[in-house]
Amino acid sequence: MQEEKIIEGYLGITPERKLSKIPARLDFWQSATGLFLALFMIAHMFFVSSILLGESAMYKVAKFFEGSAFLEHNQPYLVSIVAFIVIVVFVAHAFLALRKFPINYRQFKILKAHKYVMHHSDTSLWFLQALSGFALFFLASIHLYVMLVQPDTIGPNTSAYRFVHQHYWLLYIVLLFVVEIHASVGLYRLCVKWGWFESLKLSTLRTIKWIMSIFFIALGLVTFSAYVKIGLSQNIVPESHQTMQFFKQYDAIKYGKGN
Ligand code: HEM
Repeated sequence: MQEEKIIEGYLGITPERKLSKIPARLDFWQSATGLFLALFMIAHMFFVSSILLGESAMYKVAKFFEGSAFLEHNQPYLVSIVAFIVIVVFVAHAFLALRKFPINYRQFKILKAHKYVMHHSDTSLWFLQALSGFALFFLASIHLYVMLVQPDTIGPNTSAYRFVHQHYWLLYIVLLFVVEIHASVGLYRLCVKWGWFESLKLSTLRTIKWIMSIFFIALGLVTFSAYVKIGLSQNIVPESHQTMQFFKQYDAIKYGKGN
């Protein structure tokens, strides 16, 4: 290790006695990865909710991400590539965010006391952000892994099968609330931190944050109901061959080229 790096590492200042730029760089990357994930989630919610336009519309959207518009044969691994990129950004974001978590009970008590004394709504929002972020470590990982390794099982009937018969509805309903709150609070905090939309008052930004949360949770719930309704109508007979593979073929024959 070079001498300068050792000095900066131990003291947090450079040999020229300037404050290290590393914390600012890490902050920048935490914001950049967070912004990417929040924008991804907005787009993701619209794609998943294509089911509200009908099963055929959702099938087209799913196949588009497998390259149907520009490839002769659909390639589900394209979805895996996107999932892989999202996982990398997600892990980087979580890693950078960990720096801000209280690391022992003493720090946690100070934070709680500070929140109590200050009565400051943005400090309370930070608390909510940290808690929902912590929950996302576990909840989002499960979903992302399934999307990574089973990219060929996305479609109106296959997704509905996963919702109802593989019991993912339970994960999704919690994930929906947690991620929408985390993303909208995160976007609000980004605006305050970096001074975006400075012409707007803080109270206006907060109202926009609430509107975003409510809109995406409402859209998510209607979408959720649509998949559950399809899943319940699948009426699986025990010992039958109506598995994920069955519904994959069913979707392909009904809405695709049959392959
Ligand atoms: C490349 C990555 C992703 C892909 C391809 C993907 C795809 C999908 C698909 C196809 C569904 C419909 C249900 C299913 O087939 O299982 C779904 C639902 C859902 N996804 Fe993702 N997703 C990705 C990343 C994420 C991330 C990072 C989050 C949150 C952190 C997330 C949150 C949700 C939620 C909450 C639902 C349920 C929606 C509802 O109840 O209306 N997804 N996703």
